[in-house]
Amino acid sequence: MKTLKLGLIGHPVKHSLSPWIHHQFMKQAGIEGEYHLYSIEPEVFEDKISKLLESGINGFNITVPYKQRIIPFLDELDPDAEKIGAVNTAVYKDGKWIGYNTDGAGYVRALKQVLPADSSTQRVLMLGAGGAARGIYRALVTEGFSYVDIANRTREKAEQLLQLQEPETVTEILTFAEAEEQIKKYDIIIHTTSVGMSPADNEQIVSLSGLKPNAVVSDIVYKPIETKLLRSAKEQEATIHHGHSMLLYQAQYAFEIWSGKQIIIGDLLDRLEQKVTEA
Ligand code: ATR
Repeated sequence: MKTLKLGLIGHPVKHSLSPWIHHQFMKQAGIEGEYHLYSIEPEVFEDKISKLLESGINGFNITVPYKQRIIPFLDELDPDAEKIGAVNTAVYKDGKWIGYNTDGAGYVRALKQVLPADSSTQRVLMLGAGGAARGIYRALVTEGFSYVDIANRTREKAEQLLQLQEPETVTEILTFAEAEEQIKKYDIIIHTTSVGMSPADNEQIVSLSGLKPNAVVSDIVYKPIETKLLRSAKEQEATIHHGHSMLLYQAQYAFEIWSGKQIIIGDLLDRLEQKVTEA
């Protein structure tokens, strides 16, 4: 394969760990390539994107605030990206730009590393109903998780996620207070908001008191690596699942789309943790 030209668009992007991750993947796959950061000011988005699409680039990631704004510039959308309404990965293939969303599917791949083999009948509680939650909810239901309840500060936002259900999905919408009261009924708890993110790392979205023994608690916040929510889960001997793994697995899926190569995660998760801690 000739040099793979990749990148990330967003605003801001300068602290992104994606160049490091994709360079590790390229090294492993034996592919020569580059992954550039493109920080695009909102006022010049249309102009810059049109130029980027014609620059000979093979594919790129899209981050905040452009995951929706990129859509009209693409020729086709993967059906899940279309349902989710957001694209984080674009690939140029057979003369067309195609958009995917690897965030939710990558997250579920990462989560499955800490779940028992058949966990799809387990009860899941998702905290939050924003953009990240949309992708994760869609990936959970397509992976066959049938019981996925959602707790969110704004009820209407949680209700909007119900459009992403599969026929067998059962979802109850809760307040945070109700989620706390019923916490013992859940096997898997997934936190998808930014509450607890550094520098506000003393915040925790709900109390986990009374957690089911052997529950899995997952937080998509990865700075700090161990959030207050995860520390409190650990105190109750839950299995914890750190947010930086989502970063790695969504990138793995994107790299597969661009290169057609399978990537082995191996020690990359530990090395990424080191990078996040240093950053
Ligand atoms: P993202 O794309 O990162 O998910 P988003 O779409 O703005 O960002 O969604 C943010 C999510 O975090 C929402 O679920 C939001 O709750 P609301 O729907 O009520 O706005 C939630 N959120 C953000 N700050 C919060 C806070 N301080 N307490 C509770 N929920 C919060």
